[in-house]
Amino acid sequence: MTTLIKQPFFYDITLRDGNQSLKKPWNTAEKEIIFNYLTELGVQGIEAGFAAASDMDFEACEKLAKLAPDNIVISALARCVQSDIIKAAESIKAAKKQRIHTFIAMSPFNMKYVLNKSSQEVRNQAIEAVKFAKQTIGKNGEVQFSVEHFGDCIENIDFVIEVLKDIVNAGATVINLPNTVERTRPSVFVSLVEKVYNALPKDIIISVHNHNDLGMATATTVESYFKGAIQLECALNGLGERAGNTNLYEVAVALHNAGVDVPLNLSKIYELALVIADMSNVKIYEKAPLIGPEALAHRSGIHQDGAIKTKDMEKGAYRPIHPSLIGRKDDEKLGFTSQSGKTAIFEILSEAGYPITLSEAQRIAPVAKEKAEKIGELSVKDIIDIYYNNILNVKGAFKYINFEKLDEKTIKLKFSYKDNIYDMEAFGNGPIDACINAIKKAGFDCEFVNYEQKALNMGSDATGMTIMYFNAPNGIAIISRGADENTFSANIKAIFNGLNIIDNMKN
Ligand code: KIV
Ligand code: ZN
Repeated sequence: MTTLIKQPFFYDITLRDGNQSLKKPWNTAEKEIIFNYLTELGVQGIEAGFAAASDMDFEACEKLAKLAPDNIVISALARCVQSDIIKAAESIKAAKKQRIHTFIAMSPFNMKYVLNKSSQEVRNQAIEAVKFAKQTIGKNGEVQFSVEHFGDCIENIDFVIEVLKDIVNAGATVINLPNTVERTRPSVFVSLVEKVYNALPKDIIISVHNHNDLGMATATTVESYFKGAIQLECALNGLGERAGNTNLYEVAVALHNAGVDVPLNLSKIYELALVIADMSNVKIYEKAPLIGPEALAHRSGIHQDGAIKTKDMEKGAYRPIHPSLIGRKDDEKLGFTSQSGKTAIFEILSEAGYPITLSEAQRIAPVAKEKAEKIGELSVKDIIDIYYNNILNVKGAFKYINFEKLDEKTIKLKFSYKDNIYDMEAFGNGPIDACINAIKKAGFDCEFVNYEQKALNMGSDATGMTIMYFNAPNGIAIISRGADENTFSANIKAIFNGLNIIDNMKN
């Protein structure tokens, strides 16, 4: 049977399933803060709490029901017991759209070992509870029924479906199918969901509620949606019992990427994730999808190259979305390790205000890799040190010793190459030209093309930089740099750095 897909209905369970898993469950004031964020996010339903669990939760449900905007469904959880149902109904009576959510386990294992009841007893209890809930809430609201441990109902799925038909006749309009403990493969769970969807009237809302014990809850929820489960029970930051509930952000973004019209303000996600981490005291795992601090980091050279080439595009080579979709202000970041390449050197230094070309970055990448092999990821300071030692102070056989200006056009330049010292007098159109002529006069090939001088502010040093362009004997264009507060010293450093770069290429 083909499934007609409607817009998803996001039913947030952070304040109930998420809350019941916390070491310190939220009080009413804390729940109110999160509730306001949820309304800004635009979820369609909010489970405010488990009214019978504690006075504090009852009070929170009452308060949130009063605050609830008219278009948001507000529910409270209740076991299939009359006292719970009465409390749930009482706690949310101020809401315009009220829902009692009642549940009982139907897996053979749980009925036998936890409830200690026969399947017939469970069936009767469920039907009676739904009838009572419907009668209690009356015209003001609706009843949601959950088959706790639905994911474990493979053997008795026909029984479950028969009970669900009775439950619908008893007044439930939302049937929730939880994977209470994630033991079942996504495709197996989804096929159970599809069976229920096909068996019940089409005006009944099918819902899924997947726990994340094996880390597949998002996949299961997303695929269940495409088989007819319109209501998606999710929690902020994936909070929930044990390894948590389905993470709302992941489901919302996965559906968005699949072309579904997701009725949420996705740009609120990132801020909300940080608030929830703070309020729950459950830190965001570094590599958490979408929201983790490392979720935008690239360390392999190939990924860094692709990331930079597609940086400003909506679709990126190595990211599922543009970070701005979820309101993330930080961008993709590159870290330099032994696995990284010239792109990272170039980007990190450029970002830190150090002038560099890609070919210079390629020249110093092996030095950086060697260091990273020993110490792991390099800090920005480590990379700047490599820049100072390998771009601004190139080690080699040429060493500058002294310079003397004899008149406007004549200079004396003293330098050494390996063990030989040269003390040369030469003419030129200016000091740079004269120095180059002195070097040539000493017998060294030095094809100087051009130079430029820049005032710059690198890190904390306000300094000047001379950039020189040479042609190496093999025809390769070489850039060398010299930085100093004194322009003449910057020129000399650039000349000798250039000589050493060319000389090192020969070795
Ligand atoms: O995980 C679960 O089965 C539940 C139900 C109460 C819906 O949280
Ligand atoms: Zn649950």
